[in-house]
Amino acid sequence: MKIETKLVRVLSGEPVWPPPIWLMRQAGRYLPEYRELRAKVGSFWGMCNAPDVAVEVTLQPIRRFGFDAAIVFSDIMTVPVALGCPVTIKEAEGPVLTPVTHAAGFVRDRAHWEEQLAPAYETLKRARAGLDRETSLIGFAGAPWTLATYLAAGRGRDEQKAAKLWAYRDPRGFSELLDIIGECVAFHLIRQLEAGADVVQLFDSWASALTSSGFARFVVEPTKKIVRQVRSSYPSAKIIGFPRAATLAGYELYARETGVDAVSIDTSAPIRWAREILSPRVSVQGNLDPVALIAGGKALDEGVDEILAALKGKAFIFNLGHGILQETPIAHVERLVERVRSAG
Ligand code: CP3
Repeated sequence: MKIETKLVRVLSGEPVWPPPIWLMRQAGRYLPEYRELRAKVGSFWGMCNAPDVAVEVTLQPIRRFGFDAAIVFSDIMTVPVALGCPVTIKEAEGPVLTPVTHAAGFVRDRAHWEEQLAPAYETLKRARAGLDRETSLIGFAGAPWTLATYLAAGRGRDEQKAAKLWAYRDPRGFSELLDIIGECVAFHLIRQLEAGADVVQLFDSWASALTSSGFARFVVEPTKKIVRQVRSSYPSAKIIGFPRAATLAGYELYARETGVDAVSIDTSAPIRWAREILSPRVSVQGNLDPVALIAGGKALDEGVDEILAALKGKAFIFNLGHGILQETPIAHVERLVERVRSAG
């Protein structure tokens, strides 16, 4: 019989206390063992595409901290690569690629997607075998809007202006772009679930760049479609959505319309609002300030306690408001886990 992990129980709406905890970007450069392996392999894509290395990186934070979930070591930019757009990951900058102006040349062949994305599935399969049954395994993908911002601009800077301009000037072409990305994202999420992921998370890191009608059209609608598509193959799929730094009205719309099981909230979202408005509708994940985790001490303890006090008795997953930062001391992560685990 399959054991329902704490994370899956919370995503089914059950309040579990102390709450499960994992951290976005928990597999990465703040860990000395990651940096060592990264130096040895030499390139980021080289790590993602070598399942033995990717499994090791996926498990590193679990061994150290015993988080309730492991997230597969990969990147949101694997989907653009599968669609035929080569991506370089530049040190201290992130993804760089040739800007795209139309979706006509995208690869739509699923056998090609499968081949390009296969290392993630192999990593999930092996990671599942290396985890105990109480630890959840999370797969993920970038949401269409966020991927479109990188594709249009060729990078992640500049307030996502290029994608917005494309949407204003060529609404049909832009909606075709979101559709084809959405197809590949849904495919990728379904395949990750088949490969052993218990849960999947959609990262919409640039959701904050949009007007409210843009948010409804380019974040909420494509997400809703993906959720529907994933559930048509996988009715019990557990899905977390992270429309980062959406407005409160944006988060509420997202929670109401998309069908996700949990909404991951960023640092700016008031925790009482999360309790009163969001949690009656969906499970909540978040939202400690990653900088408080660097600071440690009283700032960390107070930040943790405030969140725990507000969400006690609710279906809640402890996480950060955004990814863990590179300069985060290991000892502070240990302290965080201990404090959450001893929540009364
Ligand atoms: O969460 C995890 O530990 C799993 C792995 C993971 C990575 N990227 C590894 C990575 C996940 C879930 C992501 C998601 C991701 N990637 C997002 C969404 C989350 C967010 O932060 O908003 C985005 C926008 C990307 C695109 C991306 N990839 C950026 C912006 C960067 C540079 C980041 C930086 O901190 O410099 C990457 C590269 C990347 N992805 C690294 C890692 C560990 C660093 C690469 C290295 O080791 O050189």
